[in-house]
Amino acid sequence: MSSEVDNLLFFLLAVSVFFTLVIFASIFYFAIRYRRRPNDPPPPEVHGGMALEILWSVIPFGLTMIMFVWGASVFFAMSRPPDDAIEVWAVGKQWMWKLQHLEGQREINELHIPVGRPVKLTMTSEDVIHSFYVPAFRTKSDVLPGRYTTTWFTPTKPGKYHLFCAEYCGNKHSGMIGWVYAMEPEAYQAWLSGGTSGGTLVSNGQKLFEENACGNCHKPDNSGRCPSLVGLFGKTVELSGGGTVKADEAYIRESILNPSAKVVAGYQPVMPTFQGLVTEEGVVQLVEYIKSLTPKTPATGAAPAAKKAASQAATNSPNR
Ligand code: CUA
Repeated sequence: MSSEVDNLLFFLLAVSVFFTLVIFASIFYFAIRYRRRPNDPPPPEVHGGMALEILWSVIPFGLTMIMFVWGASVFFAMSRPPDDAIEVWAVGKQWMWKLQHLEGQREINELHIPVGRPVKLTMTSEDVIHSFYVPAFRTKSDVLPGRYTTTWFTPTKPGKYHLFCAEYCGNKHSGMIGWVYAMEPEAYQAWLSGGTSGGTLVSNGQKLFEENACGNCHKPDNSGRCPSLVGLFGKTVELSGGGTVKADEAYIRESILNPSAKVVAGYQPVMPTFQGLVTEEGVVQLVEYIKSLTPKTPATGAAPAAKKAASQAATNSPNR
């Protein structure tokens, strides 16, 4: 994206510089050429000039429309992560970046990613507003408490790039910095396979799911007091009191921390909140676990091993 952002910026700069020069040159030229000379009478007043009015309305209008359409197209491209993007979760807190990979690697103020593949970040904050800013990638995205925001980029050149927090977030805001390491794919694979301390996000999520006894009510066969979570992710959910919601990451997060906000049609608001019991990183793990709960039936073959294992584990433990 960086070259597209740069091209747009240079276009804006070029337009600004061009008109600044034209306007200032005209001011000086007219000021000197038509300066008041002794004994000159005041000039007659001039009214109107339709051709000129139209000309200097239409040209700026055209230019600003070019800026608008161009800017919007870059903005939309930046807002839509490709489907094949590598997913990484980021949690900002005063004053550090905590990053989790699906494979289970957890990093603080460091992000390792491979070159040549799009990377999607889903981000939230534990406390105040932060902003994930990698100048070399021309990417800056606010990280908000209580909400998931996403950003994405495709690193093209291996190297080490500065990561900043770009939103004043307290007295150590300027220290909330780190590095993004864009690595050759082989080096990245080596990094991934080295030193996973504690399981994948899905398996950690499953652990949390069991520790918090979520399965006591959310039984996979829908016999519990709460809806089954198998196959939930991405579906449209009917709510009690009318309306629907798409079961995305934000909906799952809200249902864990504020379960009475959106109650599924046909169910009672019996679930307690897990606010304070599960950290934002824990919620991320639970979200990934719930995403992995796919119905066992037509196996797509290409499903990652982790997903299969997790959904098997889920169906194998109805006593939870
Ligand atoms: Cu976080 Cu500034």
